[in-house]
Amino acid sequence: MCGIFGCISEEALEKILDGLKRLEYRGYDSVGIAIINNNEIIIRKNKGKLNEFIENLDLNNIKSNIGIGHTRWATHGAPSKENAHPHTDCSGRIAIVHNGVLENFLQLREELIKKGHKFSSKTDSEIIAHLIEDFVNSGLSFKEAIKNTFKILKGSIACAIISTMEPNKIICYRRESPLVIGISNKGVFCASDIPALLPYTKNIAVVPEDKIVILEENKVHAEDLNGEICKLEYNEIPWNLELAEKSGYPHFMIKEIFEQPRAISDTLKIPLIYIDRAIEYLENKKVYLTGSGTSYHACLFGSYLASHLLSMDMRPIISSEFIETLSLFDNSTVIAISQSGETADTLNAIRYAKSKGAKIIGITNTLGSSITNLSDVYICTQSGPEIGVAATKTFLTQLISIILLFLRFGLKKGKINEIDYNKLIDEVNNIPKITEEILKKSDKIRDIALKYSLKQNAYFLARGINLVTALEGALKLKEISYIHAEGYPAGESKHGPISLIEPGFLCVFIAPRDNTREKIIGNIMEMKARGAEIFSIITEGDEEIKEISDEYFEVPFVNYILYPILCTIPLQLFAYYTAVFKGLDPDRPRNLAKSVTVP
Ligand code: G6P
Repeated sequence: MCGIFGCISEEALEKILDGLKRLEYRGYDSVGIAIINNNEIIIRKNKGKLNEFIENLDLNNIKSNIGIGHTRWATHGAPSKENAHPHTDCSGRIAIVHNGVLENFLQLREELIKKGHKFSSKTDSEIIAHLIEDFVNSGLSFKEAIKNTFKILKGSIACAIISTMEPNKIICYRRESPLVIGISNKGVFCASDIPALLPYTKNIAVVPEDKIVILEENKVHAEDLNGEICKLEYNEIPWNLELAEKSGYPHFMIKEIFEQPRAISDTLKIPLIYIDRAIEYLENKKVYLTGSGTSYHACLFGSYLASHLLSMDMRPIISSEFIETLSLFDNSTVIAISQSGETADTLNAIRYAKSKGAKIIGITNTLGSSITNLSDVYICTQSGPEIGVAATKTFLTQLISIILLFLRFGLKKGKINEIDYNKLIDEVNNIPKITEEILKKSDKIRDIALKYSLKQNAYFLARGINLVTALEGALKLKEISYIHAEGYPAGESKHGPISLIEPGFLCVFIAPRDNTREKIIGNIMEMKARGAEIFSIITEGDEEIKEISDEYFEVPFVNYILYPILCTIPLQLFAYYTAVFKGLDPDRPRNLAKSVTVP
């Protein structure tokens, strides 16, 4: 949601600004920094994006070796200079940045106002600074005041605090919202996500739940709110800096689309031990799948695949609806999918399912994220960091993980024979090569996007397992090009949506050569008869559908369960190029954030 960066290092300000640049995907409606210079806290903050902020930064060469920064996605209080972080206490001795949502701030705020505290913003976060101040005024040390503050605050919190009372320290705290720590000969750092730390270190620790971490020059110390010391577990992150940079591409989104062959290939190498551990939780269980946004589409894929490959019914449930939908969890397993591993809706669904006794298989791209901590067993997709807000490579690797999991489960349970299993695995292993071939034809999609970029509406229609692609294609187009796009089961389109069709209305059909093809041809004809413009994703050489389409894009013939992987790629490209032709920034679509840590 929001991005936090803090460091104790030479040229701290430059490093904070660079860190915020790498975290901007988490929020970009306002930005701010606080540094300590000559025992005084200097704050600069404003509404708007980081680039404008840096251009207008008037710090007259003030140097500092300690500071914190924040890039915001507004929850409480509109985007404005006042509501931008950092926030301070009344005396200006304490500055804080926060990511998360504080549930009991209103009542606490009123109590503090009665005591004479003056608030300058409408945010929930500002209360952290005033509470610490209040505890300090009552005689507690800075550290104890911080601990007491987090003991009484409810909600999700990742926080970094500096103060002139202890000017050589950054004190961090984490509950539910993500926060990582890094240390190297270049300094000591904290951040909301790993890519921000990669220029300085790959030796990274996740701040454990409900712990404070104290950063000082060359040292880091962690303890719980009762003072018990705890050990931080550092992991050597295998990602290189290049993965977190644009490397010559104009946007992260297009770079990440083109990284998909590599991401899939790496995910195919997930050690079987992880898959086999997960399989144990599928045996004789009622299985549900849950996720949000694109990850929900992966759940839907899982549901189709389970029915087709395993003859098992697995219900996909949007995470934000999970608690409202399910009450019985007899002998259940929930497969929870989230690239960030931090989506609040998905974490809430997991906590609820766990409280009812369900087992959790997590599928995530982020090792050390909340989902890995909450799951009984997890599978980590190998996409590398995804910075573009619209999920691309992480989606395809989610599909790959589900295929690996279900194929192996099917083999072990005798639902798939060895010959079919080996045949399918061979095809899956060929996917990186095929996706490379598809990407070589990106120019064709660019031309189609140019032709349709001024459309106001689009339907994405498909049947069966290809509905996953239709929903994902529509979501991609909608979220980054702001064209109204709806994914719909093609068979259902005549029960309502068809009434909007008039000459020139864009209908994108996912129509590969599988058992849905005959019926899809009928649906294309229905739309065409009413003047719709038809753009079809088809299997190579399908002359019949080419004939009835205004535009088409061909993918190679594969086993039908693999079409959602192949057919999604041209639709990712279509959304990307449409956004670019409309002059929009595909990496930072308005109102969205990469990881939504509020329910
Ligand atoms: C946000 C993003 C979407 C993403 C969804 C779920 O809404 O904008 O692109 O699909 O969160 O994210 P997750 O990290 O749980 O997969």
